[in-house]
Amino acid sequence: MCLLVVVVYFLTLLLPLGHASLPLVINTWPFKDATGAAWGALQSGGSVLDAVEKGCARCEADQCDGSVGYGGSPDENGETTLDAMIMNGDTMEVGAVADLRRIKNAIGVARAVMERTTHTMLVGESASLFAENMGFTAEDLTTNKSLNIFSEWLKGNCQPNYRKNVFPDPSTHCGPYRMIAIDQAGHLAAGTSTNGLTHKVPGRVGDSPIAGAGAYADSSVGGAAATGDGDVMIYLAVEQMRAGADPSTACKTAISRIKRHYADFFGAIICANTTGHYGAACNKVAGFSTFFYMVSNPETDKPALLSVDCF
Ligand SMILES: *[C@@H]1O[C@H](CO)[C@@H](O)[C@H](O)[C@H]1NC(C)=O
Ligand SMILES: *[C@@H]1O[C@H](CO)[C@@H](O)[C@H](O)[C@H]1NC(C)=O
Repeated sequence: MCLLVVVVYFLTLLLPLGHASLPLVINTWPFKDATGAAWGALQSGGSVLDAVEKGCARCEADQCDGSVGYGGSPDENGETTLDAMIMNGDTMEVGAVADLRRIKNAIGVARAVMERTTHTMLVGESASLFAENMGFTAEDLTTNKSLNIFSEWLKGNCQPNYRKNVFPDPSTHCGPYRMIAIDQAGHLAAGTSTNGLTHKVPGRVGDSPIAGAGAYADSSVGGAAATGDGDVMIYLAVEQMRAGADPSTACKTAISRIKRHYADFFGAIICANTTGHYGAACNKVAGFSTFFYMVSNPETDKPALLSVDCF
């Protein structure tokens, strides 16, 4: 569901219809603050584009009914992304963004696409980079509400979802994308999957696919996996467990080692040993003080969302 603000503003006072009067702001849904913002823009001498932009921007900031703006409709990864479009009825120019991440003011970016480029639409990370270049603020679009929607969806085996004709069924591997799995016989495996760093130099390969860095598994001891900045020495966590550390301590030790060299690195590690005990640790940096992770075992019944305080 989306917000649409249409502003019609003729300078002529000669109208074919009886009670019509102009200017007019009309929008879908009972988002009266958005209507008011659009109206206010017109009253203060703004153009119809200003009115549409201000009206939509109000909803993006207020979240209206949750179907617009940040903190709503998290995707399969729990991320809220935004789509917006603006059209100039005088020139027929259009500006649009889709799958925009980290930028709250999507309509403003759409307008910038229209007015600052000869293109019509920008999408995804490239759209976000464009927005940042244009001076828009990058910020997290996640809220407790969207985290909640996401965790409920995970608990419900990722149902409903939009996949079809895929095997295994998404509900059977619903959960975190970095995993450690231990079966009852004590076999253990670890793996990572990532699409890499945003704005990476083409050709860059991070630590994720490197054994001992992104993840590590030793069926005689345990396994660990990491998320965050590169160069996390996961191998160390497993060796700590080999030396007798419990999983939480092993994770903390590995984080501590990195902290000594890179105090403000962003990262978290999950650790598990062969008896199924587990733990996690993360490095506390600005904007990252809690790390959420998921666990599923016979006791949890469904995948459980857990968190650890960073240190
Ligand atoms: C979000 O949840 C955390 C802990 O679960 C709480 O400390 C925080 O105040 C919440 N934030 C808002 C905006 O409700
Ligand atoms: C796994 O860690 C738990 C918690 O420290 C410990 O009790 C258990 O003995 C460990 N298992 C192995 C195989 O070391």
